[in-house]
Amino acid sequence: MKSSGAIQVSGTEEQPISDRPTTAVVPADPQGIAAAAALLRDGRLVAFPTETVYGIGADASSGVAVAGIYAAKQRPRFNPLIAHLATPEAALVQGEFDREARRLCEAFWPGPLTLVVPASSACTVCDLARAGLPSVALRVPGHPLTRALLAAAGLPIAAPSANRSGRISPTTAAHVAGELEGRCDLILDGGPAGVGLESTIVACLGGVPKLLRPGGLAREPIERVLGRPLADKGDGALIAPGMMTSHYAPLARLRLDAVDARVGEAVLDFGGQIGGASGTAYRDLSAAGLVEEAAAHLFSLLRELDDSGAGVIAVAPIPDHGLGEAIRDRLARAAAPRN
Ligand code: TXA
Ligand code: MG
Repeated sequence: MKSSGAIQVSGTEEQPISDRPTTAVVPADPQGIAAAAALLRDGRLVAFPTETVYGIGADASSGVAVAGIYAAKQRPRFNPLIAHLATPEAALVQGEFDREARRLCEAFWPGPLTLVVPASSACTVCDLARAGLPSVALRVPGHPLTRALLAAAGLPIAAPSANRSGRISPTTAAHVAGELEGRCDLILDGGPAGVGLESTIVACLGGVPKLLRPGGLAREPIERVLGRPLADKGDGALIAPGMMTSHYAPLARLRLDAVDARVGEAVLDFGGQIGGASGTAYRDLSAAGLVEEAAAHLFSLLRELDDSGAGVIAVAPIPDHGLGEAIRDRLARAAAPRN
């Protein structure tokens, strides 16, 4: 299989793991984007920036290319992928959009919203990317560099976050290199991701639209457009197979809603509620207490505190409005027992 290991951009033969070349990291300028698009059209794996987090992408219509993503991430194959399109028009072809799905795409695309809709008869997203489901997850990213890449590739691009399965999503090219070095063909560097949390996922499969994953687009504006509350995922929902509890896991244990720091604990603060502890690492998600700023910093600060070697990270209470809902969701997953 072409894309299962490290493949050099220069095109020399695949090598054993110990001798694998480093994956090239190139700026997401017109030249880098053209090179990345050519690799994607050739069925290879490319990591690229989006406004939410970095993704690792492949041609969504090719089962072989998509298999490379699962292998690189060591991702269970029952967990389907999001197909990324350059324009809303291109996305509309892939799915059956009811009235409410159309309203959401008109209001929020391009942007950090993924819609799960029934796959259309013209859907080119392969079975493996959809994990055999009759539905398809579609997203039109808002980042101009992502859209330029998608337009240049001219394909739907399946792309999960560019981390190994179960680990924290990357928000910089350096994080991606740390996760997937030698496991993809090229990393495009477009600077830090602005939103910092994965897209919000809403399923429009008949009945009330359902919030499958809180994310970079807050619940409130979605409900305003719909004119009614979103349904919640509920328990045992087969339709969100990827929402395993212990996801986004750092190595350290997290103590949530902490009001103080105990001896030896690193601190992840919000709005200076806990304050600095002596001798251990301290970071504030947003000294000003803004949830948008906290979202943008969450994953990189979690990584930094994890790298400090602390066994426990005390995390300050985060408000649950706006993007706070998604931050709390990711922290709860990071704090959950590992599965
Ligand atoms: O912001 C994002 O969404 C990033 C960037 C790269 O676009 N991507 C991302 O992908 O977070 P990933 O694979 O980490 O998360 C995709 C989620 C998974 O939880 C998966 O189970 C769910 O989307 N999903 C995909 N297709 C689905 C479907 N047909 N029905 C229900 N859930 C689906
Ligand atoms: Mg992910």
